[in-house]
This record gives sequence, structure tokens and C-alpha cells, in this order.
Amino acid sequence: MNILCPVCKKRLYKKDRSYRCESGHNFDIAKEGYLNLNRRDSKNTGDNPDMIKARKRFLDKGYYAFLAEAVNDLLEEGDSLVDLACGEGYYTSRFCCKDKIGIDLSKSGLKIASKSDKDTLYLLNSIFHDPLEDKCCDKVVTIFAPIAGKEICRILKDDGSFILVRPDKRHLLQLKQIVYDHPYLNEAEDVVISGLTRTDQIKIEEEKTVSKEDLSDLFMMTPYYNTTSLTDKKKLEKAGNTKISFCFIIDIFKKG
Ligand SMILES: C[S@@+](CC[C@H](N)C(=O)[O-])C[C@H]1O[C@@H](n2cnc3c(N)ncnc32)[C@H](O)[C@@H]1O
Repeated sequence: MNILCPVCKKRLYKKDRSYRCESGHNFDIAKEGYLNLNRRDSKNTGDNPDMIKARKRFLDKGYYAFLAEAVNDLLEEGDSLVDLACGEGYYTSRFCCKDKIGIDLSKSGLKIASKSDKDTLYLLNSIFHDPLEDKCCDKVVTIFAPIAGKEICRILKDDGSFILVRPDKRHLLQLKQIVYDHPYLNEAEDVVISGLTRTDQIKIEEEKTVSKEDLSDLFMMTPYYNTTSLTDKKKLEKAGNTKISFCFIIDIFKKG
């Protein structure tokens, strides 16, 4: 897959420790290995270092390994793959494809990702303005992240697929029962994306015992973390090892 200059949209070529286009725009590769192509003055800087560290600690314990395997089963080694909002690359690095690009706005996420996974090109950029050519990839993956529908349609080859992972209704219910007086189920309505048609849906779930030390990291990975009061968050400190349901929906979309 070729990457494009964010200034003039011409193709970028790697030379030593930087990428350069024929107009002379130059982008140095960070010492960890990722490439910063973000030229937008956006307030969104992705997940902060504490969120990234918490997610890394939790994912490295293997609780979500079954999800990585389920997505990997949908991929082929010969596929070109773009992981949109790849975070610290836990899933990206495990995907079997040889030609992989991971995109995220979190510098701390990409530092971790690119330091340990040299098989993937990690780009610091918004997923809503991918520095990639039209119809360049076989698979696009988005896991627990915003859906950039227009860009997904643009970069996918005509016979390519988009794989979306999102939480199902009962995902993390027991965790919410610790924190909230009236926990609710997640919304899990069908996702509609203009230009794409859903061709399959897979639901997977496992119940696992999460150690008391890992509960806070897990909670920090959720969207509720920023909207929950300190008093409610502190309830997690009193909880012991807890059985938690991990319930995921994997949607597969084709163009058209
Ligand atoms: C919940 S995390 C999921 C990360 C990864 N897919 C995973 O499941 O481990 C959401 C990610 O989306 C990234 N993100 C949010 N908005 C973004 C945007 N507009 N462009 C690129 N990345 C974005 C955040 O930095 C964060 O890493």
C-alpha cells in the first residue's frame, strides 16, 4: 500500500529515516518507528498515555485473545490491511496479513505499537483523512472506535471488506453492576454505513474471571470512564476477583 503526502497528496517514498514526496515535502520517522503525517490543527489527540497504559496492561494479560483470533480467522496472509484507530497495536500486531498499516491519533499508542511491531507501518493521523490512495486495501478493520464510513469506502478495493468490532448488549455487565446502582445494557442496534452492505455478523462471548487488580484497567478502557463520578469509580477498589462477560459483535461489510 502506498502512502500519500498530507500536503500535496503525491506518493511518499521511504529514504533512510524519512518519507519524501516528489514535491520535496519530508516527514521523519520517529525513533520508535511510527510516521507522523498529522497536519491538522485538531483538538483530538486520541487516547492519553494513562488510557493507553491501562489498555496495554489489560490486553497483555490475554483476556481478549479470543477476539483477536476471531478477527484473524477472517483475514488472509496475502491481504493488505488497514487498522483504523489501532491504539497501541494489540490487534494489529496479531493479524496474519503481511502488508499492514495502523492509523491512530494517539502518540503514546503509536509509540508502543511501533516499538514492538516492526511488521506494520504505523501512521499518526486522523482516520477521517487517511493518507492513503483510493482502493488500496483488501481489508479495513475498526475495533471499538469511531467509524469513518466515507474513508473506509474510499480506501477499500471494490471486492474488499470492512470488519467492525463493537460491544454486544451484555458486554461488561458485571463491571457496570459494581459501579452503578442501575446498570443498563449496551445499545447494540445494527450499524448502517452508506456505501457498504453488511454481509455477515458473528457474535462471540466468553465469561472470564478478572482479577481485582485488572478491574480498574478494564474500566478505564470503557467509554464510561470519563463520565463516571469518582465516588462510583472508587467502588471498584473494594471489589474482589469478578466474573465478567465479554460479548462482541463482529460485522462484515462489502462495498455496494
Ligand atoms: C477504545 S480505543 C480502541 C483502540 C484499539 N482499536 C483497540 O481496540 O485496542 C479508540 C482509539 O481510537 C483512537 N481515535 C479516536 N478518534 C480518532 C480519530 N479521529 N483518528 C484516529 N484515531 C482516533 C484513540 O486514540 C484510541 O486509540
